[in-house]
Amino acid sequence: MLGVLTGSAALEVEVGERIAQQECPWGKPSAPVRRTNFTRGVALLLARHGETLRFAPHAINYRANIHALQAADAEAIVAIHTVGGISAYLSTGTLLVPDQLVDYTFGRISTYSPDDAVKHIEFAEPFDAGLRTRLLNAAKNLKVTFHDGGTYACTQGPRLETAAEIDRLDKDGCDVVGMTAMPEAALARELGIPYASLCVVVNPAAGRGRIEFSEIRRLSQAAAGQMTQLLNYCL
Ligand code: HPA
Repeated sequence: MLGVLTGSAALEVEVGERIAQQECPWGKPSAPVRRTNFTRGVALLLARHGETLRFAPHAINYRANIHALQAADAEAIVAIHTVGGISAYLSTGTLLVPDQLVDYTFGRISTYSPDDAVKHIEFAEPFDAGLRTRLLNAAKNLKVTFHDGGTYACTQGPRLETAAEIDRLDKDGCDVVGMTAMPEAALARELGIPYASLCVVVNPAAGRGRIEFSEIRRLSQAAAGQMTQLLNYCL
């Protein structure tokens, strides 16, 4: 089954039946996994910030979230991310399936390995190529406008960035900025679960235009319909 990590972009899907939570060795996930009906099938949804948006990006138990989806039989994970647009061609409302990331977070627990056992994972391509293709094919077939590829900068938050920080990320080659793709992507790779990100640009990054929180909320909600269609197509 397809697992979906939902973010602040509320998906307009029928709220699904909660799956009974198993004892999790990594602590409590942000929310129960819900078996959710789409028109073409069923997906497993987990709200990474909690169902009442109570966990800030640095306070999310990423290990428990990925583990909970795996325990519920997710064989792949699409992660929904709202992001700020750094590159000029990425205006608000644009959907993007990134193919690279740079991790600027710190202090987040980013491995399942114990401290006394080194585990290196191969991570040159942080997003799963096959799952990206499924999303991109869905977008093409549904004639949903999207951007194929780009580099996601993952910042620590919860504050937004300064204009100078965004200039630095731009020089580093980043196209969009968000706060939650890491350590999610690395943890999923450790467990061998294909992981891809579906981003919606909800504001111009700091110093690139005016940031209005009401507009971020409106754009996050506006994207939900298209994202639901894409996920549905992937089932
Ligand atoms: N910066 C970081 N994370 C974000 C942003 C941003 O501008 N917009 C949405 N998530």
